[in-house]
Amino acid sequence: MGSSERWMLWTLCVWFTSQETVALRVTMRESSLEVVQGDFVVLPCSFFTSSPLSRLNIIWTLSPFFSPETPIQVIVYDHGQVIEDPSLIGRVGFTGLPWSADIVLNDTRVSDAGVYRCMVNNPPETADPGIGELVLSVLAPPSLPVCQWDGNIDSGGSVTLSCSVAEGLPTPEIRWDKLNPEEFSLPINMDGDRSGSVQIVNVSSQTSGLYRCSATNLLGTENCYVNLSIYSTPDTSSGMLQGVLLTLTMSLVLLVLMVLLLWLHRMGQSRRQREGKEEEEGCYNEIRYTASLMKRSFV
Ligand SMILES: *[C@@H]1O[C@H](CO)[C@@H](O)[C@H](O)[C@H]1NC(C)=O
Ligand SMILES: *[C@@H]1O[C@H](CO)[C@@H](O)[C@H](O)[C@H]1NC(C)=O
Ligand SMILES: *[C@@H]1O[C@H](CO)[C@@H](O)[C@H](O)[C@H]1NC(C)=O
Repeated sequence: MGSSERWMLWTLCVWFTSQETVALRVTMRESSLEVVQGDFVVLPCSFFTSSPLSRLNIIWTLSPFFSPETPIQVIVYDHGQVIEDPSLIGRVGFTGLPWSADIVLNDTRVSDAGVYRCMVNNPPETADPGIGELVLSVLAPPSLPVCQWDGNIDSGGSVTLSCSVAEGLPTPEIRWDKLNPEEFSLPINMDGDRSGSVQIVNVSSQTSGLYRCSATNLLGTENCYVNLSIYSTPDTSSGMLQGVLLTLTMSLVLLVLMVLLLWLHRMGQSRRQREGKEEEEGCYNEIRYTASLMKRSFV
């Protein structure tokens, strides 16, 4: 290798190194972060620059998971001034200006989840790249699930119990249990990652009872309930028939008893009439007869 070649190599090296040191570079110390709803989180964004920081400009944007098409400017640092998005005032702030672009997000909400981008410029320096990205997930307990039932609650019909939960991260697990008269869990079909249903075919009176759907993740559990009453139509009609039969039988027995009583009464009367005639021999009988005797002797 000749000395001129060596010199060219050295020049190239210097040129590349200087290019690297001159260009502003943004590095994200994390590519994804998790925070529990309500806690604070620091979103880190470091940059390296060799120019004075008098014209430093930082912009943080968020593409929320629930509306990725409408990103917002979370916070901006420009000409020594900090401007926050109106929806985040009081909750967001820079932590290390002007040496770092880190921000803190206080009192986090589910709506804060999304893709955050940190853009740093420090003219006249070029940026390579001047932008970094991180994904923020906000962990939250399940919201109150919604329980519904559908179908035919006449005996022999089929009923579907369904349950869905709108919020919660990690995705809540859904389960259905029957609570009374005895407790057991039911096989569940997932209709999506946040809703599950149970189908009960050929329902009977044993199907009646209280059912619970629970949505659970590591941050908590929420329940909703369905109280199912199965109308056992064949049972009621046979019950009614039995009732009618019972009433008829009882009426018949009453009628027989009344006839018997009437007959006995008649018998008694006719005997008394006869006994009245043969009164003199009847003194062994009753006080009434004695009284009538006394009356008679008195007269
Ligand atoms: C965030 O909360 C901490 C501690 O409660 C507080 O010191 C800080 O000022 C808050 N930052 C913002 C931007 O509200
Ligand atoms: C429905 O259940 C009843 C008893 O609960 C049973 O006698 C009948 O065979 C069942 N019908 C069907 C179609 O499974
Ligand atoms: C469920 O319904 C039955 C009858 O309608 C009622 O007796 C029972 O108290 C209910 N249970 C609950 C927990 O609401």
